[in-house]
Amino acid sequence: MKAIGIDLGTTNSVAAVHYPDRKTTEVLQVDAKPHTPSVVGVRTRKNGDEYAVVGEDAVHGAKDSTTTVFSVKRLMGRTVGEPQVAEVSKRFDYEIVPASETDPTAAIRMGKEVRTPTEISSLILHKIKQDVGRGLGTEVTHAVITVPAYFEIAQRAATRQAAEAAGLVVKRLIDEPTAAAIAYGVREVGTTGKRVLVYDLGGGTFDISLLQMVQDGDGRNHLQVAGAAGDNWLGGDDFDHLIVDHVLDQIRAEYGEPMLDQKFRRLLKESAEQVKRRLGQSEFAEVNIPGAFRTSPDGPLVDVFYEVTREEVKRLIAPLVARTMALVDSVLAEGNFTPEDITDVLLVGGSTLTTSVREAVVSRFGADKVRMDKPMECVALGAAILADAVSGLECPSCGTVNDDESENCSKCKNSLHGAMSASGLVIYEQTTMALGIAAVDGDNPDAFVEIIPKGTQYPLTKPMTKVFTAAGRQVRVPVHEGVHKIASKNRVQGVIEVELPEGLEPNSDVEVSFNYDGDRVVTVVVRVPGTTFVQSATLHPKAVENGSPAPQEESTEELERAIDIVEMFVAKYDSYIEPWHRDRIKSRLHNAKDAFRRQDDKEQRRYAGLLYRDLDTSGLATTLYYADIVAERAEPAECENIRRKAQEVRQAHEQKNDARRALSEKVLGELIQRELRKQSGGALADPSDLLRTKNPSAR
Ligand SMILES: Nc1ncnc2c1ncn2[C@@H]1O[C@H](COP(=O)(O)OP(=O)(O)OP(=O)(O)O)[C@@H](O)[C@H]1O
Ligand SMILES: [Mg+2]
Repeated sequence: MKAIGIDLGTTNSVAAVHYPDRKTTEVLQVDAKPHTPSVVGVRTRKNGDEYAVVGEDAVHGAKDSTTTVFSVKRLMGRTVGEPQVAEVSKRFDYEIVPASETDPTAAIRMGKEVRTPTEISSLILHKIKQDVGRGLGTEVTHAVITVPAYFEIAQRAATRQAAEAAGLVVKRLIDEPTAAAIAYGVREVGTTGKRVLVYDLGGGTFDISLLQMVQDGDGRNHLQVAGAAGDNWLGGDDFDHLIVDHVLDQIRAEYGEPMLDQKFRRLLKESAEQVKRRLGQSEFAEVNIPGAFRTSPDGPLVDVFYEVTREEVKRLIAPLVARTMALVDSVLAEGNFTPEDITDVLLVGGSTLTTSVREAVVSRFGADKVRMDKPMECVALGAAILADAVSGLECPSCGTVNDDESENCSKCKNSLHGAMSASGLVIYEQTTMALGIAAVDGDNPDAFVEIIPKGTQYPLTKPMTKVFTAAGRQVRVPVHEGVHKIASKNRVQGVIEVELPEGLEPNSDVEVSFNYDGDRVVTVVVRVPGTTFVQSATLHPKAVENGSPAPQEESTEELERAIDIVEMFVAKYDSYIEPWHRDRIKSRLHNAKDAFRRQDDKEQRRYAGLLYRDLDTSGLATTLYYADIVAERAEPAECENIRRKAQEVRQAHEQKNDARRALSEKVLGELIQRELRKQSGGALADPSDLLRTKNPSAR
């Protein structure tokens, strides 16, 4: 297992690794460079096949701006109606469309394919995983991935999915400013009471976060976000555009309205970016583009050569720098802080390498507080430190540091649930669903009673408890995760059977408490107040959420079944699976078989879950697979109907008639749903549930 940190940036992505024995953290090379442009493009082979290119290749070979995707991070987890999506549409040439007729997720038309931002990000992450693995001489399996502090649940989920699709186990998603603070060492002993301002000016976005290091009741340090602001459309790119406009003004002053083609504009933008960077070291830099344009259709080619000074750039970008400082002031004002209250200012993002940006921050806070160390890499470096730190659990009872995967302490044998990472730094995440139990509530025999509400920060610092009335001695506690008021509409995470002590009064109180740790493991404790009765059990919601079958099944059997089904699926539906997705499934099968050989319980369940998810997300192949299964169980007339529609979809696909295929696929989807509802007595509408319980055609 090799764990790395990845900063999946809007403009650039960076990977890093921490070596605990050497106490060093290093940036890893992708395409022999420390920064990978977060850009994906499409190329066409001579035979008409299309394939994706990522990073430098996508930027430099970019011939077609309509199929070269920049800034995909801005679209993560968004739907087509959102304002941010409209803004991206305005600024970039690629076409944003709904993922399908029934799915409004924003997706991008790339040549013949429509790809979701998750898929595109997964291509970037996959490239990083492969290249970095080659460099390290070992397969990279795990990662801590950073996301902006303002990312919501859907955007975080999309990022997590992208990483999983790229074959990475996500150890944690962590906020970018927090990662930066870790890289800058704001987690070491004696840092309590620090108030840290993270000024992150990247390629396209500006984020300002105010972090406080606080200590909880158990003496654990954690970073709290005490304030945040930003501008989604402010960054180094805007600096480049101002330099471009400045040079164009000079060209116009000299040549009137010359003929400027797309290629020249692209070269000028690249040159402006280079100039901006060089001005960090020197007072002057040149824009130099030989044979740039013609003044008239048969006029000679003109060479562009202009000198740009640091002072000029400072003047050009001054209004933008002032805007960043106004946002800094607003964060301070909101928290009722003055610059004196801030102990450290961390400069993050490539654009803080611009001299006048740094000067503005220093003049507000004083040189002694402002720190700049590898601003383009520090987010990835912090993630790498965490990737290493979270691999190791400190036993809450005896302090022994255990292996990441351990359930119980190797020394004192106590449970490690709720144990903190050995680094002593706890990073909080929020639950995306409520956790609770099914109980009788008034007239409702199937009420979902929440114990941990949706949006609760976890790991919990102490368990959350509710009191119930026990109807008899045998108590069943069905644990569900979801947000529906009817318990059975939420996913079952497990059932705990409890036998209460003899001689208890009828209708006695029973206390049920849930703990939820950093690995998303639920520990349920049932107590009877006033007695010594305690019974506890642990559940692993992750495996169930990932789509694996009920926890009763042995993990080895579960994985074996998943491998069988998915191998059959790939063989039978091969021509309907996108090539990149097929590669992903194959690499997953390979890893799953490894996990099977290793017989590691947790890993086996995880891979089974991931394989089922691949099965669920294979687009057209998934639809056809569901259709086959559902048809097999349907009445003859309906079976015929489903099969006919599936045949239409196949034909349209073979004829490359996308419009007809999409339409037939939608109708087929509706037929599948209708039949599923019928087969399950009206309750079940998720085909994947059916697949996992029984699978006659899969074997
Ligand atoms: N030496 C330099 N001087 C000035 N600007 C620089 C320098 N090096 C890189 N940059 C700029 O930094 C920006 C990229 O920064 P970075 O890689 O931190 O962004 P990102 O994290 O991908 O984007 P975002 O923060 O918007 O998500 C680009 O605009 C680039 O031109
Ligand atoms: Mg960044």
